[in-house]
Amino acid sequence: MLGMEQASRLKNVRYDIRGPVLRRAQELEAAGNRILKLNLGNPAPWGLSTPEPIVADMVQHLSDAEGYSDARGIYSARVAVAQYYQTLGVESVQPDDVFLGNGVSELIVMSLQALLNTGDEVLVPSPDYPLWTGAVTLCGGKPVHYRCDENEDWAPDLEHVAAQVTPNTRAIVIINPNNPTGAVYSRETLLGLLEIARRHDLLVLADEIYDKILYDDARHECAAALAPDLLVLTMSGLSKAYRAAGFRSGWMAVSGPTTHATEYLEGLQLLANMRLCPNVPAQHAVQTALGGFQSITTLIRPGGRLYEQRNHAWRKFNEIPGVSCVKPRGALYLFARLDPEVHKIRDDQKMIIDLLEQQLMLLSHGSGFNLPTPDHLRMVFLAPVDVLDDATDRLRRFLENYRQ
Ligand SMILES: Cc1ncc(COP(=O)(O)O)c(C=O)c1O
Repeated sequence: MLGMEQASRLKNVRYDIRGPVLRRAQELEAAGNRILKLNLGNPAPWGLSTPEPIVADMVQHLSDAEGYSDARGIYSARVAVAQYYQTLGVESVQPDDVFLGNGVSELIVMSLQALLNTGDEVLVPSPDYPLWTGAVTLCGGKPVHYRCDENEDWAPDLEHVAAQVTPNTRAIVIINPNNPTGAVYSRETLLGLLEIARRHDLLVLADEIYDKILYDDARHECAAALAPDLLVLTMSGLSKAYRAAGFRSGWMAVSGPTTHATEYLEGLQLLANMRLCPNVPAQHAVQTALGGFQSITTLIRPGGRLYEQRNHAWRKFNEIPGVSCVKPRGALYLFARLDPEVHKIRDDQKMIIDLLEQQLMLLSHGSGFNLPTPDHLRMVFLAPVDVLDDATDRLRRFLENYRQ
């Protein structure tokens, strides 16, 4: 019998944060071990539940949700998304400019599938949320990473970004607030990135899924509002701020001039048609989520769980010898540096597997986020403080004796 080989287009697609490390964790669990998992930005398992009115709205509409919807999504949800961006200053967005999706993940792949020919380049931050790099590769494109500078609170290095542009560059990905670093970009930085897009006619892909998860005085600037003259695809959804990751509900709003992009937008519509429609019950959650009381605000202010957990985890991490961490100003993650003078790590994926085996704790390795050096790891701070204390103790014990 002929071997059933993997499609060659998958050969270079990497998604290591869910790769060998997760497989090893599953083996350990199957053998009866209980693993402390701080590797996923999945709020619900940590008691950060979807707000009741959102669930109630979906339940109310279940009987209306049995059939396919419009391929872009139900009208009421698209109106809600369009109005949300209008209030943020993206005046051009209309309901027909909105595509709903099975999470932002599906829309990331669709936006790139419709755009890329073999060899086309996309500027992606390093470190990144690695689905972006993986999806560019899957679509035949070449991810070209631009440096974010840890010494500047992980802001993109604009000179480096500009230097990565070639005649093949088609788009730039901006993840703000950022996963994994927790950076929230200043207006100046965003204007700099947008100016590069303007100069080179790049499509702007703005992943703003953490736009409402901000700490201290951090302010989120919506990229599309700063560049009404550019074609921008802004993406967000219910997974994080509304703690409904399992609903698989996200959206993408197209803004800016479209006359030069009608073919591309027709391609997007074609792909939306081909998937028939996004999961319909979850679309009914969107309007209620975006309107009314935003319960996320109680979690991110002093006394709120996310705020206190971020402070606690950040302080405890920085107390571990040879570990330092820029204080995240948004999102749900600590992205910590292991000082190479103290911790001589050559293979950070191996380090994370060794940590898993020795301490039964699952974190994520920095190179899994397309960081070129093996000296970082990411921990999610969704767990309550006593669990974060336990996690920090485990990491400290592990690093005390760990050598590669
Ligand atoms: C930056 C970023 N974009 C997109 C996603 C995917 O979200 P969704 O659940 O909407 O597919 C995540 C999930 O962690 C993320 O961190």
